[in-house]
Amino acid sequence: MVNLSSCLLLFLLSLHCFVASLATYTKNITTDQYALLAFKSLITSDPYDILSNNWSTTSYVCSWVGVTCDERHNRVNSLKISNMRLGGTISPNLGNLSFLVILNLSHNSFSGQFPKEIYRLHRLKVISISFNEFEGGIPEVLGDLSRLQILKLGANNFSGFPPQSIGNLRQLKSLDISQNMLSGPIPQTISNMSSLEYLGLQYNYFSGIRFVKLYLKNNSFNGQFPKELCRLRRLKVPHINYNEFEVGIHVLQPQI
Ligand SMILES: *[C@@H]1O[C@H](CO)[C@@H](O)[C@H](O)[C@H]1NC(C)=O
Ligand SMILES: *[C@@H]1O[C@H](CO)[C@@H](O)[C@H](O)[C@H]1NC(C)=O
Ligand SMILES: *[C@@H]1O[C@H](CO)[C@@H](O)[C@H](O)[C@H]1NC(C)=O
Ligand SMILES: *[C@@H]1O[C@H](CO)[C@@H](O)[C@H](O)[C@H]1NC(C)=O
Ligand SMILES: *[C@@H]1O[C@H](CO)[C@@H](O)[C@H](O)[C@H]1NC(C)=O
Ligand SMILES: *[C@@H]1O[C@H](CO)[C@@H](O)[C@H](O)[C@H]1NC(C)=O
Ligand SMILES: *[C@@H]1O[C@H](CO)[C@@H](O)[C@H](O)[C@H]1NC(C)=O
Repeated sequence: MVNLSSCLLLFLLSLHCFVASLATYTKNITTDQYALLAFKSLITSDPYDILSNNWSTTSYVCSWVGVTCDERHNRVNSLKISNMRLGGTISPNLGNLSFLVILNLSHNSFSGQFPKEIYRLHRLKVISISFNEFEGGIPEVLGDLSRLQILKLGANNFSGFPPQSIGNLRQLKSLDISQNMLSGPIPQTISNMSSLEYLGLQYNYFSGIRFVKLYLKNNSFNGQFPKELCRLRRLKVPHINYNEFEVGIHVLQPQI
């Protein structure tokens, strides 16, 4: 016997998928402009009037300050608005900038949660949102951005446990989650991040680490140094003082 309601459901589902794919297909530079205007609309502080005057519909979006476009696809490929004393929250429409490769919002006063819609931006290679006031958890969906090479979330107010999904980022070279309110164990999956060269974890509330001062200073140390960090062979030691350097080298010896 044919189950009509499940056929109908299937039909509606495929219709939904068709409409959804059509919507993706028709994204263009107008979508990007709309997304950036939505982004601008949630900016509550712009003391130097940088975006308020410049990001205007009377000029082409690719000429807006901090915005560059990819000539081949004619879509926005980077948004770099560091150090402009901008404040406000981040619009989920950011997730519509589907050709974005570089996102640099560092050294501003952006706050609230970082939108999980970022998971749609599969081309992203660089995210820097350091030195802002973001709060809440680090979005788990960051682990879906498989092309990421640089992820800088330091000096914010992120809390909770860092998501295990971060370990999916096999191309990541630099991970900085220092100076937040993160706690719990350091994700074991970090041992799978074979491209990692820099790891900044200091000034958080991580547990399970004892004596490492280098990247890990000022945490709630009370156990053994996690074995998984020892497997990160390419990890380089940043220039801090000599004693800390020694500790770093010693601890980060690869164990085969
Ligand atoms: C973008 O697509 C919309 C339809 O989805 C269209 O109206 C608009 O003119 C297009 N913009 C450009 C710049 O091609
Ligand atoms: C916006 O800023 C860019 C870069 O500084 C400049 O080239 C452009 O002319 C400005 N546009 C307007 C409308 O002010
Ligand atoms: C862009 O993103 C927002 C929020 O994620 C959504 O509501 C909107 O429909 C999206 N699409 C376009 C074409 O702006
Ligand atoms: C972000 O922009 C600032 C200011 O231009 C720059 O110093 C910093 O290196 C950039 N971050 C990344 C990860 O490119
Ligand atoms: C971080 O969060 C704490 C507690 O919620 C709050 O007191 C503090 O002002 C926040 N700091 C920043 C920089 O947002
Ligand atoms: C590392 O990746 C492998 C292969 O995907 C997986 O089986 C393993 O569980 C991962 N290890 C950790 C600690 O996540
Ligand atoms: C360690 O962190 C705590 C709380 O974040 C802070 O009060 C203290 O001054 C820090 N200690 C050092 C040596 O920076």
